[in-house]
Amino acid sequence: MSDAMNQDFSDAEAAAMDIALHVALRGHRGANPLVGAVVLGRGGEQLITGYHRGAGTPHAEADAIAKAQAKGLDLTGTTMVVTLEPCNHIGRTGPCARAIIDAGISRVVYAVDDPHDPAAGGAGTLRGAGVDVQSGLAAAEALKLNREWFHAVEATRPFVTLHIAQTLDSRIAATDGTSQWISSPESLADNHGLRRLIDAILVGTETVLVDNPRLTAREADGQESESQPLRAVMGLRDVPADAAVRGIDGKFIQLPTRDPAEALDLLFAQGVRHVMVEGGSRILSAFLGAGLVDELIVYLAPTLLGAGTPALTDLGISTLADAQQWNWDDAGGGAVHALGRDLRLHLRSGPTDGNKPAWKSHDEHHEPFRGKDASDTTTGGH
Ligand SMILES: NC(=O)c1ccc[n+]([C@@H]2O[C@H](COP(=O)([O-])OP(=O)(O)OC[C@H]3O[C@@H](n4cnc5c(N)ncnc54)[C@H](OP(=O)(O)O)[C@@H]3O)[C@@H](O)[C@H]2O)c1
Ligand SMILES: [Zn+2]
Repeated sequence: MSDAMNQDFSDAEAAAMDIALHVALRGHRGANPLVGAVVLGRGGEQLITGYHRGAGTPHAEADAIAKAQAKGLDLTGTTMVVTLEPCNHIGRTGPCARAIIDAGISRVVYAVDDPHDPAAGGAGTLRGAGVDVQSGLAAAEALKLNREWFHAVEATRPFVTLHIAQTLDSRIAATDGTSQWISSPESLADNHGLRRLIDAILVGTETVLVDNPRLTAREADGQESESQPLRAVMGLRDVPADAAVRGIDGKFIQLPTRDPAEALDLLFAQGVRHVMVEGGSRILSAFLGAGLVDELIVYLAPTLLGAGTPALTDLGISTLADAQQWNWDDAGGGAVHALGRDLRLHLRSGPTDGNKPAWKSHDEHHEPFRGKDASDTTTGGH
């Protein structure tokens, strides 16, 4: 069967799919899948690449087409190689099937079907417009690229990112409760960048009572970002009427439960497709213990406390053979990334594949704020 399938694709298309899978990793995981695209000229030469940066940003196909148009390239008669079936829906960014047809692209090769009902059907629209469409090239690799995302879509629950800001000895607060800020300003800025991409941020009632965090996404200058995640507090105790997390924009919800699955159901019903769980340790442990975490982001500060709140409590593991194994994740900034004095570790769940961490050096995207102090609460992690 694979021989027959391979005959559907040229060597240039197979090589382009490898590149598309690679550029897809530049995006961030979350409500939308990682997607990469490459446009091949009539002679099979690679003209342009595109990728999806995260929810609310252009899809990989639209990104590639926009880049080609900015360069004045005529895409008539070209081939689009993309890791996921082009979408058919009018979401925040318009359907890619339509953009492909309008650009005059005459052949589309994609790896896997889009499992989302509203988005599915792009292949049919393309064929209806006379575009030659083939699927299944590097399907296994494309499924692996978004394994956690496909899983969350099937389970109809939000994609879950767990965030931990900790010391070298895995403490998230000192014995007196102080925790602002364990992380470097660069790590805090990175976290605020992620907050702009997610639908909701979740903490436990204890964190609200101890830290009184705002949980808003803020820019480098401390101003609140235009797009704000829903602020969710999980636990049975009431959130004080004057708690900062309530805010004034109505983007606050209390989840009166201690069951992570129920919390996710409540969020899903609110339209949340990507939630970042930020702490404290009992909440982090509850999600990890329930096996409901897709992605782990750990900001590791070169500091020691010796005592204080541990990042995690009991996960129900008593023997090493039962330890949770995680995979290093090269997506969205890399598996290991230097952020000021901190290291950011990025991992994903799922069956281990024995991969090794790839380093990502400091880049301009993560430049520290100039003239800002780590104790400046306007740029703080909370
Ligand atoms: N460095 C960081 O990244 C970071 C981030 C956040 C917090 N922190 C620190 O973490 C500390 C708070 O951590 P924490 O573990 O004490 O509190 P927490 O995890 O924030 O909240 C625990 C509370 O959440 C509720 N809850 C809901 N579901 C639960 C479940 N499945 N299991 C247990 N509790 C559940 C319970 O309160 P109810 O009685 O209301 O149900 C429980 O008392 C603070 O010092 C804060 O500064 C650090
Ligand atoms: Zn699309």
